[in-house]
Amino acid sequence: MNKVVTLGDKSFQLYISETQILTAVRAVAEQINKDYLGKRPLIIPILNGSFMFASDLMKELKVDCDISFIKAASYAGTSSTGNITNLIGLNEDLAGRHVIIIEDIIDTGHTLAKILPAFAEKNPASLKVATLLFKPKALKTQIPIDYVGMEIPNEFIVGYGLDYDGLGRNLRDIYQVI
Ligand code: IMP
Ligand code: MG
Repeated sequence: MNKVVTLGDKSFQLYISETQILTAVRAVAEQINKDYLGKRPLIIPILNGSFMFASDLMKELKVDCDISFIKAASYAGTSSTGNITNLIGLNEDLAGRHVIIIEDIIDTGHTLAKILPAFAEKNPASLKVATLLFKPKALKTQIPIDYVGMEIPNEFIVGYGLDYDGLGRNLRDIYQVI
């Protein structure tokens, strides 16, 4: 099966199936369940891209936990601009909390590098990062990445919350640009 989808001016082929994604999500959840037993972590997904990962991850968490979303955007087209245009909604009191930031994908790492200090200065008891996808070859910054669902090559992908110029977030599977 070689499923192809067209979004705007680009075509994409099936790359990671929904089943494979959910296996990776479960593996991350299992680690968090172990590490945060009795700690009531505060889960903070970074919108928009992480909404599907956050939703499926929450369903697999067995520890008591809170969730609060924030929004950051740094992408235009298929390459990272490195400019955060938005960081909205970090109103939660993080003092003494065990915070887990949830990302859909870490590419250059610029987004996280820019937003991490804003979390750190609110004095959380601990601060960790969980990402569904990680492109190690694209990383340009030194950031802590504590939980990774899957490592992938440096290719542009869409689906499962990730978009190409706004399109493709609704796809259940992940597709790679052809
Ligand atoms: P970074 O700042 O370069 O690490 O990129 C972070 C953000 O860029 C992610 O949270 C995504 O929203 C977006 N992004 C990075 N790589 C991709 C991709 O392959 N497809 C779609 N969006 C991506
Ligand atoms: Mg994102």
